[in-house]
Amino acid sequence: MSAFAVFASGSGSNLQRFIEETSLGGFPATLALVVSDRPGCYALARAKQAGIPVFAFNPKDFPDKGAYERAILRELRARGVAWIVLAGYMRLLGSTLLKAYQGYIVNIHPSLLPAFPGKDALGQTIQAGASMTGVTIHFVDEGIDTGPPIAQACVPVSPDDSVESLAERIHTTEHRLYPAVVADLIRFCPVYLSTL
Ligand code: GRF
Repeated sequence: MSAFAVFASGSGSNLQRFIEETSLGGFPATLALVVSDRPGCYALARAKQAGIPVFAFNPKDFPDKGAYERAILRELRARGVAWIVLAGYMRLLGSTLLKAYQGYIVNIHPSLLPAFPGKDALGQTIQAGASMTGVTIHFVDEGIDTGPPIAQACVPVSPDDSVESLAERIHTTEHRLYPAVVADLIRFCPVYLSTL
């Protein structure tokens, strides 16, 4: 069976959805590894609770980004990972991972890209007075939320929304959309072609 890894730095509610979907059966891949750059984050507690192997190191413990990513790459390859799924991973990927997994890395962002890229997308949305926002799943390239989009879904914004209330609505859509889109991608392309 195909295998994927989830990268997370925060609460890991999207990770939780992948844990649930893969434990139900019918999902086309195994969740083989959770990678985090924040060893104390709640996403790791979720992974450990579910018995998913983790790679959790502070990048500052490595001489440079290349060394950090080579260590991740060894883990990914040892576990036969074909797809990298970023879910709240708060770090730009470097050339080591981007080259090794070109075309097989996806991210979810809480806006209708290209609107409101980068950090604090929800704050930017409210600040702009937008009445509609959404969620974008996209391939990852070297830019900040610039890779080709795969799927988008709209989420309404209320005039009295706070970042927290909007985040809750956005998460509901993310939790429905992300596992479904990742499952479709993996069904279409279960093996990383350069490993054939
Ligand atoms: C999500 O809203 C995602 O769009 C963004 O980071 C958030 C992660 O949330 N990239 P969680 O850690 O999965 O709860």
